[in-house]
Amino acid sequence: MSRTFQLLLVLALVGIVRVGGSRAHKNVTHGPHSCGGVDVPYPFGIVEDGGGGDFRTGFHVMCDAGEPVLHTTGGDGKPIKIGNFSIRMAEVRVWLPVAWQCYDSSGNVSGSDYNPLEFNDEGVYRISHARNNLFVLGCETTGYLGSQPDQGSGESRSYAQFTGCLCYCNNSQSAASGACSGVGCCHVEIPPDLLGNWVAFVIYDHRNKVNFSPCDYAFVAEKKHYSFNTTDLKRALHGTTWEMPVVLDWAIRDSPTCKLARKKKEGYACKSSNSRCLDSTNGPGYICNCRRGYEGNPYNERGCTGLYI
Ligand SMILES: *[C@@H]1O[C@H](CO)[C@@H](O)[C@H](O)[C@H]1NC(C)=O
Ligand SMILES: *[C@@H]1O[C@H](CO)[C@@H](O)[C@H](O)[C@H]1NC(C)=O
Ligand SMILES: *[C@@H]1O[C@H](CO)[C@@H](O)[C@H](O)[C@H]1NC(C)=O
Ligand SMILES: *[C@@H]1O[C@H](CO)[C@@H](O)[C@H](O)[C@H]1NC(C)=O
Ligand SMILES: *[C@@H]1O[C@H](CO)[C@@H](O)[C@H](O)[C@H]1NC(C)=O
Repeated sequence: MSRTFQLLLVLALVGIVRVGGSRAHKNVTHGPHSCGGVDVPYPFGIVEDGGGGDFRTGFHVMCDAGEPVLHTTGGDGKPIKIGNFSIRMAEVRVWLPVAWQCYDSSGNVSGSDYNPLEFNDEGVYRISHARNNLFVLGCETTGYLGSQPDQGSGESRSYAQFTGCLCYCNNSQSAASGACSGVGCCHVEIPPDLLGNWVAFVIYDHRNKVNFSPCDYAFVAEKKHYSFNTTDLKRALHGTTWEMPVVLDWAIRDSPTCKLARKKKEGYACKSSNSRCLDSTNGPGYICNCRRGYEGNPYNERGCTGLYI
């Protein structure tokens, strides 16, 4: 064999190794996990019996009867269903219950469930202000969404975030399906930095409305997901659940910015050498993406692999 040929052979082999390596490159130091067919990518992980598991602090989920769920605090502490996870967008889609209150024929509140909740103690989640709206349904209804109020009551309460809208109908014919602009239904943009779902209503006398609008409803939902239907004004919710898909933003929140996270080094989450760090756009912290030309999971060492073809 000539030296040149040997060199070519070596180069070719290196090339092959490189191409082959790029495919099998995933040195998966974490995960992948899955639950009921839904991928649970690191930094997320499933809590094992005994409480441990392969997840970053705060990113634990439960696999409950073949469904990934998030444990919440506040309210009745019911776990919420997770639809899917996105590493690239740093989002998760969850299902949250609608808040409601109903009136009796004398116009008094006969029942309600505001379904308040907070996502988790570590605070990795925020309701996405970019991807959701607040919807309020009713014929004399003010519904609002706020951050958990500071201690105090009545006038002395103060909120970091607070928004809502008012809807009204003059009579049973006023509202129209498909239109959510103030008649039977209203919707508004929501502020960033919401750590939980705190929805509530103003209580109005409903005496002359109960026939065609016995209840108030309010919920956060993914933009464009909900289309108002006048039949929803009389939706019975006692003992049933009505849930809406909501997009949550998540981030690595143990350092407020990329700059500080890189400086601290220990615990820096963007493990792949082909990753880049982006400051969070909802709450403090940062997220990781793969550099242009690479894809995969930047939270894993060698997780971002090149697109060679
Ligand atoms: C993956 O990387 C770790 C350390 O980063 C190393 O110990 C291990 O051997 C690697 N595994 C594979 C399959 O390359
Ligand atoms: C989840 O799935 C839906 C529909 O299957 C898709 O449109 C959406 O982009 C996914 N969202 C995330 C956060 O991955
Ligand atoms: C409705 O509320 C009013 C005012 O609080 C009260 O006087 C009345 O008894 C209530 N009606 C019923 C049926 O509970
Ligand atoms: C409001 O509703 C009442 C009762 O149905 C009706 O008589 C009246 O014309 C309505 N008012 C307006 C301004 O549409
Ligand atoms: C409203 O809901 C009813 C009953 O669920 C359905 O039959 C109707 O097609 C819906 N209308 C619109 C405009 O979506």
